[in-house]
Amino acid sequence: MKTIRVELGERSYPIYLRHGILSSIGACLTELGFKSGAKVAVITNNVVGGIYGAKAEASLKISGFNPVIITMPDGEQYKTIEQASKLYDSLIEYRFERSSPIVALGGGVVGDIAGFVAATYLRGVPLIQVPTTLLAQVDSSVGGKTAVNHPKGKNLIGAFYQPKAVIIDPQALTTLDAREVRAGFAEIVKYGVIRDKEFFTFLEEKLLTLLDLGYDLAIAIATSCAIKAEIVSADERESGLRAILNFGHTFGHAVEALAGYGTYRHGEAVAIGMVMAAKLSVMLGVCKPAVAERIEKLVSSLGLPVEPPPLPADDVIASIKLDKKVADSRMRFVLVSGMGEVELRDVSETELTAFFERFYP
Ligand code: NAD
Ligand code: GLY
Repeated sequence: MKTIRVELGERSYPIYLRHGILSSIGACLTELGFKSGAKVAVITNNVVGGIYGAKAEASLKISGFNPVIITMPDGEQYKTIEQASKLYDSLIEYRFERSSPIVALGGGVVGDIAGFVAATYLRGVPLIQVPTTLLAQVDSSVGGKTAVNHPKGKNLIGAFYQPKAVIIDPQALTTLDAREVRAGFAEIVKYGVIRDKEFFTFLEEKLLTLLDLGYDLAIAIATSCAIKAEIVSADERESGLRAILNFGHTFGHAVEALAGYGTYRHGEAVAIGMVMAAKLSVMLGVCKPAVAERIEKLVSSLGLPVEPPPLPADDVIASIKLDKKVADSRMRFVLVSGMGEVELRDVSETELTAFFERFYP
């Protein structure tokens, strides 16, 4: 078993990673200090619960816990305050107390809403993230961002709330749709670009075996989590360094929104956004063309899209300005300066217009 730690003083926590660990959730909770006999709420959705709910329940029972499976419908459209309210209803009905942990079993949607519920029910109950998509295993389960969507925008209501542990079973990915697996790879590539050139080379070299979902992918997940853990440990609330995790996301969010939510998976939009951000870095003289070419080649070899759909530049720029991460209407981008190195830079509307004329006429 590989254990990585997010270091946040008293709120530090382990990320356990092992093939088959889903059958040992109960033992993990015991190791974390939860007492035998405690009630445990497993929040999941009908898809993931149907595949892994019984396994999680059995493991918790064997370790002496008293699990209750709480199932929500599958889909981003249920990541709402109304659905959170239904989850509170269940927790109240089963008389869950402040010491009763919530286990979030599922992808990023379940992780975000169950995390938000854990942050707010009784002013905060212990949270264990058990991510079952690649995106959730390398990104959303680590770092404590929890949220629900608002009709005016994604993730507008939320809290920073760190879990007590993250339990990652790469074997769970074998039942995941191939498109979802590919989407998760975008975030893995991102870690190489922003922080670790050797990791980027590893991904280039192991391209074929990574897609087999075996040992090399487990290494890639562990390395991604270690990079995210290091960044979150240094800047939990995104006052500086953590912003580099948004590489590819400024263009990606615009593409996702303008194409219509649901057209692209988040990771696919991030893939397109990373290639665009790399080309912008070249145009602004921040990096050499070869760096952008390597990023585009790896992203495309992983079966991810690299070209945005035909979108008017003005619409993209307007969408970027609306993004909640745009401070004072400044368009701040994470640009790549060399493989494994990035910098934050404000980009003017004139520069962006020139970028679209040159690369996406
Ligand atoms: P998702 O949770 O919708 O999961 C994708 C699909 O896969 C769903 O249908 C789900 O039921 C299914 N699924 C999950 N695990 C499975 C498995 N092992 N086998 C079979 N099917 C499985 O999507 P996602 O990409 O994991 O997460 C997207 C969400 O994550 C978005 O809401 C996004 O805002 C959020 N997010 C949060 C953060 C963060 O830091 N908190 C970061 C990135 C994304
Ligand atoms: N997914 C970006 C972050 O956690 O900050």
